[in-house]
Amino acid sequence: MADTGTLSLYHLLDPEVLASPYPLYQRLREEDPVHWDPYLHAWIVTRYADVVTVLQRFLGSRTPTPEKLSSLGLEHLAPIARVMVEQMLFLDPPAHGRIRRIAAAAFTPRRVELLRAHICEIADSLIDRVLDRGEMDVIADFANPLPAIVTAEMFGLPREDHVKLKTWSEDFAEMLGNFQHNPGRATNVLHSLEEMLTYFRGAVRRRANKPDEGLVGALATAEVDGDRLSEDEVVANLIVTMVGGQETTTNLIGNGLLTLLRHPGELERLREDPSLIPTAVEELLRFESPSQHTARLVPEDLDLGDRHLRKGQAVIAVMGAANRDPERYLDPDRLDLARPDNRHLAFGWATHFCFGAPLARIEGQVAFERLLRRMPELRLRPGPITWRANLGLRGLTELRVEFS
Ligand code: HEM
Repeated sequence: MADTGTLSLYHLLDPEVLASPYPLYQRLREEDPVHWDPYLHAWIVTRYADVVTVLQRFLGSRTPTPEKLSSLGLEHLAPIARVMVEQMLFLDPPAHGRIRRIAAAAFTPRRVELLRAHICEIADSLIDRVLDRGEMDVIADFANPLPAIVTAEMFGLPREDHVKLKTWSEDFAEMLGNFQHNPGRATNVLHSLEEMLTYFRGAVRRRANKPDEGLVGALATAEVDGDRLSEDEVVANLIVTMVGGQETTTNLIGNGLLTLLRHPGELERLREDPSLIPTAVEELLRFESPSQHTARLVPEDLDLGDRHLRKGQAVIAVMGAANRDPERYLDPDRLDLARPDNRHLAFGWATHFCFGAPLARIEGQVAFERLLRRMPELRLRPGPITWRANLGLRGLTELRVEFS
């Protein structure tokens, strides 16, 4: 492991850096904004303008193929790779555009907007359950189940299956969110993956001719210019949508509420003027981004900043650092719920810009609106704040609050 003086993203494993990675990001931005990280064998990119360049121009197809894994003696991981290589997140044009177009035909703005009133009902039902207690763990009682139930219902699956979806999503997020090597976790992920594949294959087959049965039916039957997704492609992209839609939204609600409670002046401002909710959600996404970084490959030998990058090298684009770049934002470490010109990178940028952003925004807006309206005098309970040891997906393991 690196000593604490070394400039490495590996320090995200240190509890104090996990509690606040922003001083480390500031050092990286100021001292070496395109930094070769010897521990991760990747370039770490932290300035806003450079992160945009990486997301615009670099390659998304970074998952090792099953053949590559076999050649490294890691064939036991091949089932994971077989699914990931068909997910839009890990594809480049033209394969990416094809999947994304067909998926967009299924996940229409109308389908998302129809969910708004329903998300309100789900949020209220979760609040009803804890209201008499006067206290709750925001993560377990609200931020975990809300996106899980929304996902189950949006997919057209039985509501009670949301518990299963959540467990699988947490396991799979270990692969997406963590860059540290932890062989113990692979067994869990493989087991979850097998269960997920069986479950989703069954769901897709039952809806093969039923476009109206949720996103599963819509994606299984979606067609653009006579082109449809294969069953494996439908399943792989349902899985990435399910994982992408849950862990991140949980983090938005948990991180966002903690941030508000740590900034009582801004919280009060929001209570007094709920019309600020949409800009507040954008600012909370910028300030404590649920997904802190993503990876790409260098497409050809090129210069970035004053560094020379070689074709095929790995690059970690740190959106969490770019979102606090003083060259892009005035006073970036200040929370301003009405911040103008807030084009943050929390949903990424360009080709892979978050497919579920409209839904995530609605979920965030509804969650904060309902929590603040129905829980006056919300305050943190004394005790430590613990962050999940998932380095890419930044979120809390629990958040204990009380209210009157
Ligand atoms: C606050 C919540 C969310 C955040 C912060 C978030 C963040 C992101 C980011 C940063 C990316 C781009 C990753 C990259 O370029 O490598 C992305 C892509 C994606 N997200 Fe989200 N996301 C959220 C919610 C959702 C929801 C609700 C869904 C589904 C309903 C979803 C589905 C996806 C999918 C399928 C992609 C891949 C898009 C592509 O490759 O073209 N996300 N998300």
